[in-house]
Amino acid sequence: MRYVFGNWKMNGTLAFAEEYVNKLLGEVRPASVQVALFPPFTALSSFQYLVKDSFLKFGAQNMYYEDSGAFTGEVSPVMLKEIGVDYVLIGHSERRHIFLENDEMLMKKVEAAHRHDIPVVFCVGETLEERRTGATKDVLKRQLILVQDILSTGDIVAYEPVWAIGTGVTPTMDEIRESISWVKELLKADLPVLYGGSVNKGNAVDISEVSGVDGVLVGGASLKVEEFAIIIKAFDQNI
Ligand code: 13P
Repeated sequence: MRYVFGNWKMNGTLAFAEEYVNKLLGEVRPASVQVALFPPFTALSSFQYLVKDSFLKFGAQNMYYEDSGAFTGEVSPVMLKEIGVDYVLIGHSERRHIFLENDEMLMKKVEAAHRHDIPVVFCVGETLEERRTGATKDVLKRQLILVQDILSTGDIVAYEPVWAIGTGVTPTMDEIRESISWVKELLKADLPVLYGGSVNKGNAVDISEVSGVDGVLVGGASLKVEEFAIIIKAFDQNI
């Protein structure tokens, strides 16, 4: 099984979601790829109806680790469970860097998701400075150290180098293979590992052929339904 996941980030109204999902369901019928979308919270609850009885799965981009309480602006695992999410993204680089979520907080989020049986897509990745100074392996190790024992069957890890996100620049295929294989070495369980960072219709086939890559987490290109469909087909063909 391979995975093509689309993270819409802070994009996509409810109207956009309805039109997009209807088009996507008409456009692709993947045989060997699991497809999931991660829309913003306002559109998320409608996904339980939009994707009903289809191959399409859906997840949240973030979550807090308490079940309820005085945490203005946050959404809890209980709320996500209620709408039937298939996944929650934890530790996306934008959460780490813009919203200053640290490794300890992310571990609590993984534990909270597990308490409610929500599979996690746990994101890791080095900055450009870290790559330039040869610290990539150490950074990935540090980001995984608190969760490597608790990530388990059903969970997924996404390797997303920060410098490749939204930049149009991707690592070489060798660099992707090396980092993914290092992440797999660090994990205790045998989990799928996805690549993320400027994946598009032009590089999807090449990335799908890199050994060890179990799929992709797509940002910008997942907002264009035709392009996302092409990426899904690229992974569906290259099994
Ligand atoms: P882009 O595909 O826009 O580079 O974003 C990748 C990403 O952050 C997916 O989570």
